Formats: sequence, structure tokens, C-alpha cells
Amino acid sequence: MELNRNFNDIKESYLFAEVGARASAYASSHPDKQVLKLGIGDVTLPLVPAVIDALHKAVDEMADSATFRGYGPYEGYGFLRDAIKNYYASYGVNVASDEIFVSDGAKSDLGNILDLFAKQNTVLVPDPVYPVYVDTNLMAGRKVIYACANAGNGFLPMPDYKVKADIIYICSPNNPTGASYSTAQLKEWVDYANKLGAVILYDAAYECFITEKDVARSVFQIEGARTCAIEFCSFSKIAGFTGTRCGYTVIPRELEKDGLNVNKMWLRRQSTKFNGVPYIVQRGAEAVFTQEGQRQIKENIAFYRRNAKLIADCMDRLGIWYTGGKNSPYIWLKCPGGMGSWEFFDYLLNNAQVVGTPGAGFGENGEGYFRLTAFGSERVTAEAVARIEKLFG
Ligand code: MLT
Repeated sequence: MELNRNFNDIKESYLFAEVGARASAYASSHPDKQVLKLGIGDVTLPLVPAVIDALHKAVDEMADSATFRGYGPYEGYGFLRDAIKNYYASYGVNVASDEIFVSDGAKSDLGNILDLFAKQNTVLVPDPVYPVYVDTNLMAGRKVIYACANAGNGFLPMPDYKVKADIIYICSPNNPTGASYSTAQLKEWVDYANKLGAVILYDAAYECFITEKDVARSVFQIEGARTCAIEFCSFSKIAGFTGTRCGYTVIPRELEKDGLNVNKMWLRRQSTKFNGVPYIVQRGAEAVFTQEGQRQIKENIAFYRRNAKLIADCMDRLGIWYTGGKNSPYIWLKCPGGMGSWEFFDYLLNNAQVVGTPGAGFGENGEGYFRLTAFGSERVTAEAVARIEKLFG
């Protein structure tokens, strides 16, 4: 028996597990202090009434033999795939229902999709970035190279034709930096991928936070994307499903290579390894796209945007450099006083009892930066901002 030695190439614990463990250790050794958590991007508002009503109704259906459901379709129920298709159409993007695959979240799909790609592919990942892209590829033994994101390029690296890659990850609006590609910039990535015969794995989990017109909401707004891109999206951030679990992946029928069709391969993979998302959850997700659901989730998103502004305004007052907060629920700031990311994490925890996420956990280029999330409650966000202002003001 041999274990997968590639696990030696990844950090011992997942970034957010590490942040959580350090915050818990501090809290248990300082029971008199109130720790404010703006670390992991977990939502705090409850599910909206339209979703709750749909969930209750679906629970009742499961209690009646006339409406009970057992195994569902591997790719998701038609009612939800159609609702997602119509959501795309609402902002001018045409995808077909059979190009949409419902899952238990974007994180799982982003890792699972790698089953479809050969081990010898070279993977291009922006640095810094959501650690799942790197860890899942390293676990599989793939070679990972980095596109350097930094303050100089606004944390939006552009393609370099000298670099050859087979799998390209793009997350926009970006986690952790909040920086977002315009449609014109994204077109350059799509052209590059098509030229190389590479695939773009496009993480659109934060599209609902986009406020600016020229920022891309979907890679499929870009001409040429259907021959090179897969899009991952989630109900976590748009509708507070972090604990409910539902997401979707869009794979155009045109995406193929060497006679293999990626859409068909993914269905084959999912039907072999996945038994679908619970009916009840899919009914809840469907309600997100009703008129009432849209109105209600937009109120929640507006709430998180106000939190982001609270944090951003504080950074402005303190003269701390940051990106994000505009098309994104994350504020990505330069650690004051030239501190390193984990040094600042400890400093903030010890002196203000505020937890954030060290930028270094997202890649080497994240060193010296720090991420705060706007997903906290109003009280926690306002109190954290007041404590940070007191510490650095
Ligand atoms: C984050 O904090 O980066 C996200 O919550 C992680 C995730 O969505 O899995």
C-alpha cells in the first residue's frame, strides 16, 4: 500500500482551518475577550423568506407518497437548471439547460473537475488566489505555475504568450483581492486560451457583488469563451447557502478535444461519483430566482455591501492601501507598518481581537497583505472597524 505522497507538497492544514484553529486557541485562553470574526467569507444573514417557504413546501412534498422523490437526476432537476438558464438570459448570456450541472457547491466542483484532465497538464493560477485551486492540483501531482498579481497590475495579471499553460484558473471578482476583470480584459484571457488550446476554469462565485457596468459577470459574455471555458458558480454568496450547499457548473457543448466532449465527460463523472443535490435544497435554490426571491436576496447583498463600505471607509480614513470592497465582499489591504501577513494576524487578534485572513495564505504574493470579509453581522463589522480605527488612528 502506498499513500498519495503529493500530500507532502501541500500545507498541513487548509488555510481557513488554520485561521479558525488560531482564533479558537486565542478565544479559549482569553475567555474575557470578545473575538470578532471577519476571516472566512461565511454569510451571517439567514436564508430569505422565499427560500425558506420553498424549503418547507419541499419538505412537505417529501412526507407524501404522491410527491415523494428518491434519487434525483445527477445533473440537477430541470426546474432548477431552467431557472439558472433564465438568470443568465436576464443579463444577456445564452446557455442551455443541458449545459448546466447542479452540485453541492463550487468548491467541490472546482476540485472534482480535475478528474477530467490528464495529470501532465500545466496549471496556471494567479498568485494570490483561493487556495483550493492550488491544493487540488498539487494533491493530484500536477505542475502549477503562477501569474503574478500585485499592486502594480491592480491584482489583475494579464496573459503572457511566452507562458504555456493547459488549465487556467480565473476568479473574478477575485477571492481574495476583490479585483475584477473588465469584459475587455477577460477577452484577452479567452483569446489566449483559445490560441493555446487551453481551458479556463472560471470561478464566478462573487458575480452578484458586481456593481460596475464594464466588469464581466460571466465568462460567457465573452466571444470565444464557449470553446475554452467552464464556469463555476454558487448559491453560497448570492443567497446565503454556505450551510445549505448548492452550486452549479456550466460546460458548453462546444468544449472538446481529441474527440472527447467535456460536457459529456462531466455528466459521466458526476453520474459515477455523485448522486445529486437533495430535492429540498434544489427547490430552495429555485426560489432564489423568483421575483420575490430576487428582491429579498438583493436586500441581503446590499446589507453586505454596506459592511464592505464601512470597512473601506475606515481604510480610507487610516490611509491604508486596499483593493476590493466595490464589486466584492472582500477588502484586501496592505498590512500597516510593513508587517507580514501572519504577524498582522497576530497583532490584530492580540490587540483588537479581530480575526481576518492573512494574505500569505493565498499565495506568496499575498505576503504583507490581509483580507477582511464584509459577510459579518452589522454589529460585528461596526465594532471591528471601531477597534481597528482605535488601534491605528
Ligand atoms: C473564503 O473565505 O474564501 C470562502 O468562504 C471560502 C469558500 O467559499 O469556500
